[in-house]
Amino acid sequence: ILINLAALALGYLFGSVPFGLILTKIGGTQDLRSIGSGNIGATNVLRTGRKGLAAATLLGDALKGTAAVLLAGYLAKLTGAVPAEAAMLAALGAFLGHLFPVWLKFKGGKGVAVYIGVLIGLYWPAAVAFCLIWLGVAFTTRYSSLSALIASLATPILLFLFGHTAMGSLFAVLTVLLFYMHRDNIKRLMAGAEGKIGQKK
Ligand code: G3P
Repeated sequence: ILINLAALALGYLFGSVPFGLILTKIGGTQDLRSIGSGNIGATNVLRTGRKGLAAATLLGDALKGTAAVLLAGYLAKLTGAVPAEAAMLAALGAFLGHLFPVWLKFKGGKGVAVYIGVLIGLYWPAAVAFCLIWLGVAFTTRYSSLSALIASLATPILLFLFGHTAMGSLFAVLTVLLFYMHRDNIKRLMAGAEGKIGQKK
């Protein structure tokens, strides 16, 4: 139980590092929170026109989730705890840390990159499926948010279908949170007012 709590805390700590804000600060762009959607994620970094920074944000926000999951699993193994359990709690922690970072008064990101990152660490084939669905929707609609909503809806369903019940339950919770974080995007999508990928608003 102690290891599981440590995994949750470690995940939170990793997850709460806001790569979008850090990289755009170093890169000297406008403040992300005053442009586009105001979000701190890679999609909004792209609206600064800095493709490299956007890619680095996606990578950083994803890999912090992967790192948390792998590290927690490794530490659990060392201490004789259940690695799969610790890894899943680290995934939950990382997701919550990204969404609600204490350093940003709990105003974090929407969770897409870190969702992919923890999937890579826990069960990479599901991450591949997520990315393929995301790309498919993105190429046809050019909506980053819609792509993430559909891919994250499919993920727990696929996990359950393939018999990964525990992970399916975890990602069902993460998907509910991801939808909640995208509530303004959903309203804009329904009103036909959502910005498309690469379009500066
Ligand atoms: O990953 C966030 C994306 O789904 C939507 O981002 O900036 O358009 O709200 P944004």
